[in-house]
Amino acid sequence: MKPLKALDIGLRILNSIKENFVSARIFLPSVLIPALVLYLLLIFFFVLSIIQSLSLFFLLLISALVILNLIGLKHRKEISTIRNIINSIRNNKFSSTDEIKLGEYLVELEGEIKSMFFRTQNDIANLQKLEQVRTEFLGNVSHELRTPIFAIQGYLETLLDGAINDSKVNLNFLKKANHHTSNLSNLLNDLIDISMIESGQMKMSFRYFNVQEYLKSLITELEPHALAKNLVLELHPVKNNLQFFGDKEKLKQVLVNLVMNAIKYTEKGKVEIIVTEDDKTGKIKIKDSGIGISERDLERIFERFYRVDKDRSREVGGTGLGLAIVKHIIDAHGSKIEVMSKLGIGTEFSFSLKK
Ligand SMILES: Nc1ncnc2c1ncn2[C@@H]1O[C@H](COP(=O)(O)OP(=O)(O)O)[C@@H](O)[C@H]1O
Ligand SMILES: [Mg+2]
Repeated sequence: MKPLKALDIGLRILNSIKENFVSARIFLPSVLIPALVLYLLLIFFFVLSIIQSLSLFFLLLISALVILNLIGLKHRKEISTIRNIINSIRNNKFSSTDEIKLGEYLVELEGEIKSMFFRTQNDIANLQKLEQVRTEFLGNVSHELRTPIFAIQGYLETLLDGAINDSKVNLNFLKKANHHTSNLSNLLNDLIDISMIESGQMKMSFRYFNVQEYLKSLITELEPHALAKNLVLELHPVKNNLQFFGDKEKLKQVLVNLVMNAIKYTEKGKVEIIVTEDDKTGKIKIKDSGIGISERDLERIFERFYRVDKDRSREVGGTGLGLAIVKHIIDAHGSKIEVMSKLGIGTEFSFSLKK
């Protein structure tokens, strides 16, 4: 071996021993003090000569240093494993918590790192999902805005190009442009509502209210829409002192949405509002004899912009946001919106409230 190489190896060993000591320095007192105590006890009991006690002193000192060195070595190995794991996490090298292993002496720390890793993975997945939802929502909004705007533009251009003087179509085109303008306005209102709700700005104000009075005034307001389609809008008898607990204004939005849906998606028969109650809760049901919703669509109707039949929904002034808003409001009441439906027979939406 060349002297230079030997020197290099020697230096490296020395360096590593130094680092072992640095790493084990917190154990210094707990190794040296017992060694010193042992030394004193031994010379006290065995009355050793100076040479013997010096040899014993150095023997114990060297043993203590070797022990310290071994402890330091182990410590450094553990720290380097931890560092490797943290680096691997940082560089996304792990796909599951099972890949994180720290050895039997560090089970607790391993558990901590695993749970931290799990949380970070979850947070990342949630962020990715949110980002996807956001992009999808933006895409949907642009698409939904484009439809009425293009239609309005089309009618206005045709009118400007001369149709304004054609008495057979001019009024019709204006009516159609007007219809799309009100769709646009419905859409904007629903968008404002949904963004308020989803950004947590919906302020709720819960109070007891008289159910009979409340539903009667709702019926009076919505009846013309039912009559326009030759439908009966019927409120089943409600006990006159019955009170429910909730946010009257928000619940009105729910009921208007549900009753208007029932009217929109029903061609003949009736739309009924039925109130039932048990011990602590009451239930409001909105039942129609309309086109119904297939089982497959039932799972999705509460999603934003989901519509079974887009053209029909637009035709009747729908935005596809109504039921998403309804669901949010009922959730905010700590309740759940439920739906049962049979194609061609009818649909029943219901939700419970505290009474
Ligand atoms: N009472 C009902 N009868 C049949 N289909 C319904 C009823 N209520 C809702 N739907 C279906 O659920 C979809 C979503 O409803 P909603 O969110 O209110 O949107 P829209 O603005 O289209 O009414 C509707 O497009 C319609 O297809
Ligand atoms: Mg609707």
